[in-house]
Formats: sequence, C-alpha cells, structure tokens
Amino acid sequence: MKTIVLTVLACIVAAVLGGVAFIYSGLYDVAAIHPDNPLVAWALHETSDRAVGARLGDIVVPDGLDKPETIKAGGKLFAENCVVCHGGPGLKPTNIAQGLNPTPPNLYRATRKPRMNEMFWFIKNGVKMTAMPGFAKALQDSEIWETAAFLRTAPGMKPEVFTEATGLSATGK
Ligand code: HEC
Repeated sequence: MKTIVLTVLACIVAAVLGGVAFIYSGLYDVAAIHPDNPLVAWALHETSDRAVGARLGDIVVPDGLDKPETIKAGGKLFAENCVVCHGGPGLKPTNIAQGLNPTPPNLYRATRKPRMNEMFWFIKNGVKMTAMPGFAKALQDSEIWETAAFLRTAPGMKPEVFTEATGLSATGK
C-alpha cells in the first residue's frame, strides 16, 4: 500500500515538475500566425464549448427581437463594434481579422443556425485567450440583444442587405 501511495505521489511530483520545466523552457510556440497544434486546438474548443453550454441556463430571450427597427439598431452596433474582426458579406477582411488566431467564425455562412441565448452569452462575456471581447462593460443588455437580433438574420445575407443594415460596403461608399 505504502509503495503504491509513494509511486503515485512521485508521478504527480514528476508531472508538475515536467509542466513547470516546459513553461520555463520557452518551447511552446505562442506566435498567432502559426496554426495551433491540433490537440491543443481540440482541447481549447472543447473546453470553451462545454463551458458556454453549461452557462446558458439562466438566459431568457426577450420578445420583439424580430422587429425591423431592432434588427436595424443591431446592424449599426455590429458595424461599430464587430466588423473589424467578423467582417461582412462583400467586405475584404481587415488587416486585424487576417492576423487573429483563432480565426473569428464566419457569422454569414448560409448553413449557420444562430441560437439567441448562445450569441448573447458570447457577446456579453467574450472568450478568454481568443480575440473575442466581452461587451458587458461597453453595451447595455438591450444593445447586446439588438446585435444578436441582427446576427440572427446574418446567415446567407446578401452584400446589399448588409450594406443597407450597416452602411458599410466593399467600395466604402
Ligand atoms: C477583436 C476581434 C473581435 C471583435 C471586435 C469581435 N469578435 Fe466575436 N469573435 C472573435 C473571435 C476570435 C471569436 C472566436 C472565439 C472562439 O474561438 O471561441 C469570436 C466569436 C464570436 C461569436 C461566437 C460564434 C460561434 O459560432 O462560435 C459570436 C456570436 C461573436 N463573436 C459575435 C461578435 C459580436 C456581435 C461582436 C461585436 C459586438 C464581436 N463578436 C466582436 C473576435 C472578435
């Protein structure tokens, strides 16, 4: 029994020392322009997916988010706060968006199925260790819902509709 306990303890100490040695060695590549190791990328995505999924329970989606004026207000907020990273149909990715790792998801993909409570959570809280900022300090909850209302209309959005909603277009006019 004693031998087993000592062996387990020795393994734990070795693992901790190995981890500390790895941190101090400088071996891990933190350059944003290099893709993540697939195992690290998987671990980060799974951690994030599970963490968000576990926190959606209390969010109540308000009524009236399909009103045209709400969606329009969201389009303006999106242009001000989000386009720099998430872009828009017909827009060239910004210099900033091209350098991000992880890459911001394409919110306009036609097959995307936006979920309001999940979008609200992402916009309000942001995601650690990614470029996604939490807007809790900058935007009211009502503004976050407006932005989510706009994003619900984003899948498959045509460039003209995007320009109408945000005032932004590929030519800048
Ligand atoms: C500085 C860059 C940046 C800005 C500004 C930004 N985002 Fe993001 N956003 C990201 C990145 C990167 C991710 C991916 C995070 C991850 O991998 O978990 C993301 C993820 C998201 C997601 C989750 C999508 C999904 O399917 O996983 C939503 C929704 C979102 N952003 C909406 C917004 C909205 C709305 C705004 C503006 C109010 C905004 N973002 C501003 C970079 C940004």
